[in-house]
Amino acid sequence: MAEVKVCLLYSDNIQEPFMVNDYILNTLKRIDMLPTFPDIVGEIISIIDDPRSSASDLAKHMDPSMVGEVVRIANTAYFGTGAFKKIVTLEHAIAVIGYQHLSNIILHMPFIAMAKGDEKSFNRNEFIKHSIACGVLSKAISLRTRIGNQNEVYISGIMHDIGVIVIYRYFRNEWQAIQSLISREKMSRIEAEREVFSVDHGFIGAALLDLWSIPKAITDGVRFHHAPEGAKENKDNVMITHMGNMFTRSINFKDDLNSFNDFMSRHRSFMGSINALGKSFSSGEEVSFFEHIYGLLREVKGYTEGIIEETDD
Ligand SMILES: [Fe+2]
Ligand SMILES: [Fe+2]
Repeated sequence: MAEVKVCLLYSDNIQEPFMVNDYILNTLKRIDMLPTFPDIVGEIISIIDDPRSSASDLAKHMDPSMVGEVVRIANTAYFGTGAFKKIVTLEHAIAVIGYQHLSNIILHMPFIAMAKGDEKSFNRNEFIKHSIACGVLSKAISLRTRIGNQNEVYISGIMHDIGVIVIYRYFRNEWQAIQSLISREKMSRIEAEREVFSVDHGFIGAALLDLWSIPKAITDGVRFHHAPEGAKENKDNVMITHMGNMFTRSINFKDDLNSFNDFMSRHRSFMGSINALGKSFSSGEEVSFFEHIYGLLREVKGYTEGIIEETDD
């Protein structure tokens, strides 16, 4: 049975205060990618927060590179990776992809842009799948437990590991040092990052999102996803993002999504983390929770494999 640690027990020697130093901050300030993205994220956050909003509201805020990406993904999702493309308009693409996936696609743009490269020490495909699944699961957990803001944790979930890509792409020496600590000293990635930077990738990713003026209710989820007990504010969002990450890490996308009964028995121990938050589900609610999550993960698997195949260059 897959084991998910009860969240409050998950902590590695926390050293406060967590601060990104000037060297990290100055490097983050020089990151010059997707200049329109920070503004667009702000717009998307308010659109997702509005229950009356629709896919066409999202579409109004997309720049041309995003439109191209959405049309390309819609073709892949619907017709496979062959050369024959039928979907040429954004409206048609949105109808195929749907509202939820459209926001996934827009929010993962920085990952696609930053994670180019062929280094074996970074598995971009798994990274994207993990990030999107974490957003979707964090939202589902928030919805069912009524803890945290489901739209905020959805975005923190998608963004939670952006610091890993930032380190990979913009701190090359440190990335190599971390890889070597992991392989030679058998450290966990978090331990190695704290050894090299004094902070982990949650803090580095959140510092970048702070520079982009993303609201703190979202960036705190990113900042503290490996150290939830360090959060002073937005504790509910932090805890749910942390749990979404822990649950996502326990999923094996290849083997876990072929049978619902197997999925539920493998992951039922996650209920321990829910109970630790003071929430309990009836057995009917428990089944419905897992059915919801199982359906979401199967969708994420199908649609990220569509994305990944064509962008894998
Ligand atoms: Fe992480
Ligand atoms: Fe993660």
